[in-house]
Amino acid sequence: MIPSTLTIAGVDPSGGAGVLADVKAMSALGAYANAVIAALTAQNTQGLTGISPVDPDFIKLQIDTLFNDVRIDAVKIGMLGQQPVIRVVSDSLAHWKPKHIVLDPVMVAKSGDHLLEKAAINEMRESLLPQSTMMTPNLPEAGVLIERRPAETVKEMYGTAEKLHRLFDHNDERWVFLKGGHLPGKECTDLLYNGDRMIEMPALRIDTKNTHGTGCTLSAALAALLPQTADPVEAAKAAKQYLYKAIARSHELDIGSGHGPVHHFHQWWKPLSK
Ligand SMILES: Nc1ncnc2c1ncn2[C@@H]1O[C@H](COP(=O)(O)OP(=O)(O)OP(=O)(O)O)[C@@H](O)[C@H]1O
Ligand SMILES: [Mg+2]
Repeated sequence: MIPSTLTIAGVDPSGGAGVLADVKAMSALGAYANAVIAALTAQNTQGLTGISPVDPDFIKLQIDTLFNDVRIDAVKIGMLGQQPVIRVVSDSLAHWKPKHIVLDPVMVAKSGDHLLEKAAINEMRESLLPQSTMMTPNLPEAGVLIERRPAETVKEMYGTAEKLHRLFDHNDERWVFLKGGHLPGKECTDLLYNGDRMIEMPALRIDTKNTHGTGCTLSAALAALLPQTADPVEAAKAAKQYLYKAIARSHELDIGSGHGPVHHFHQWWKPLSK
């Protein structure tokens, strides 16, 4: 059976991040995509100009109406915004109990600005995170979650991954996917940790400015792949590999003049000859 996946996130009209990127990644990786809209944004490849929240009650209605009818094998959670939204999403998912939840704890913008208030961070740490099967923080977000300064080396990332896993109460069926895209240097090493196995996933850094939505794409890819394999390590490696190729082929798209999107459909689309 084809896996049926759900993204709960914001909309980026330029299609490189948020729900549109998630739907593309899920579709490219053989999963049917459903989407619940948690926020609207005005943005392009150069930056964000506004956020319009969606009423938490209406987010709950979207989730409940969908789950009432549609089988959902995996959920990816992206940008939710403030505490009341995190609360309704957490309560709804606690009721419906999907098998896989991938939590991308979006809270720090590319500019380094912290997007979430303390109440929202606490709600995420206490009610949403413990339900997730895999969390995918970047280094600044990991720092906020464990209340330390962000890791600056791969060695420090090991300590961060261990501290993050404590938020899962030492459950070895839950995984930390710690993204190292923010480390300086030639490599983008990510770590995968379940309290027992620590897996280093190295990759060379691709020299491109087209990194808009890399985090969204990765977590959506994980939600698409987790139901397709019994092994979360295999799903994580395949998701990273898919993203790597999508970044490497991003120049074929030529969208916007800022940080362009990655090429979600690189396996299918042929570049037009000039
Ligand atoms: N230039 C690059 N070359 C190869 N891999 C990259 C590059 N930039 C990011 N990645 C990979 O992309 C994934 C996302 O990493 P990153 O740490 O940038 O997440 P993020 O900050 O959440 O992204 P976003 O800004 O989209 O939210 C990671 O697997 C990282 O290793
Ligand atoms: Mg991110």
